[in-house]
Amino acid sequence: MENFSFYAPTYFEFGKGSEEKTGALVKRFGGSKVLIHYGGGSVVRSGLLDRVKASLDKENITYIELGGVMPNPRSGLVYEGIELCRKENVDFILAVGGGSTIDSSKAIAAGAVYDGDFWDFYEGKPVTKALPIGTVLTIAAAGSEGSPDSVITKEEGMIKRGASGEAYRPRFSVLNPELTQTLPPYQTAAGITDIICHLYERYLTNTKNVETTDRMIEGLILAMVNEGPKVIENPNDYDARANIMWAGMMAHNNSCGVGRSQDWMSHNLEHELSALYDCAHGAGLAVAMPAVFTYALNHDVNRFAKIAVRVWGCQMDYDNPERTAKQGIERLRQFLISIGMPKNFEELGAKEEDIEKLAETACYGNGNTSGTIYGFITVKKEDAIAIYKLMV
Ligand code: NZQ
Ligand code: ZN
Repeated sequence: MENFSFYAPTYFEFGKGSEEKTGALVKRFGGSKVLIHYGGGSVVRSGLLDRVKASLDKENITYIELGGVMPNPRSGLVYEGIELCRKENVDFILAVGGGSTIDSSKAIAAGAVYDGDFWDFYEGKPVTKALPIGTVLTIAAAGSEGSPDSVITKEEGMIKRGASGEAYRPRFSVLNPELTQTLPPYQTAAGITDIICHLYERYLTNTKNVETTDRMIEGLILAMVNEGPKVIENPNDYDARANIMWAGMMAHNNSCGVGRSQDWMSHNLEHELSALYDCAHGAGLAVAMPAVFTYALNHDVNRFAKIAVRVWGCQMDYDNPERTAKQGIERLRQFLISIGMPKNFEELGAKEEDIEKLAETACYGNGNTSGTIYGFITVKKEDAIAIYKLMV
């Protein structure tokens, strides 16, 4: 195991009715003038926004609102939010929604206290300062409610990139699993897929002897394999929703990723898909993961065979571990199909003729002059092309 520092000080309020405590939490974490940021309207329709506003009123906290965050959140609304925060002297950002809303809130929070262009942070500048952020989460997926990350799409060129920094960790996150019961099945499944992928991205490591985090990851994926079909079958299964919601946080606040190198190749290649086709991030990952893993298989057959046995119930073929490893990838693929995720480019709405462009942007986008993506394996443009071809 490698040396590491780990500090993840988000306060979590979990369970039924927890959104009623939002106002008290904003007060506790120092907010007095709040920007409530939300998406395309699900929180208006469900009545959640009104309940959150009532809890702020109860604490005499003033607020302004900015809705309209799109899935794969765009830079345009971020600039608008930054202007608004400066004009109105906002001192706290409250995200009510999913990963897209939270990520847009984080970008606004950093941009509001920065003299330059907020996009600098999405070109590699570490985020060291931001307005404090709180979240009321409505979908178990991205893990942004506990992560120091944010992913934004720059409209000019439709480039999707991430930024990171401890200042991006929310001060608090409210997690009420009931709020996820209104999700369409496709979004629920995309969320489960994202959670599984966050776990795989950490499982695929070149660090030896990391059994504790290996076991945590395997346990969380197994929980998703058990709980996922329950909520697809019955969207109102509270306990299954609750298990998935907490797993989504655990999968991405990096408690499972400390002390080990990580992969992130599926995410790197997927971000080009959701940037170009505006597909759901999780749906893109469902297509990307089996292709990336198949391409990386021979780099460490035993690691893929281990997860095949421990998570996917495959029998170890000691004479031919590659067979076991491949079986594990196939069972993952079948699981994702069974919860309603796309299996190839066509079902995702992606086009084979774009592969050259996708690989070019993945490898050279945003000034990456080396043209190399580092992860579990090292990928250059010709590798990226080969991996995208496996997705067709
Ligand atoms: O916009 P509204 O109307 O709220 O509708 C949303 C949206 O259409 C809807 N939705 C959310 N909660 C709902 C609901 N509909 C009904 N009932 C509810 N309770 O679901 C749709 C998707 O929402 P979105 O916020 O886009 O989903 P998700 O949480 O999957 O976020 C995806 C974004 O997060 C990024 C992705 O790249 C993508 O842009 N990621 C962020 C990460 C991070 N910050 O740490 C890590 C991830 O790997 C990921 O890359
Ligand atoms: Zn993700």
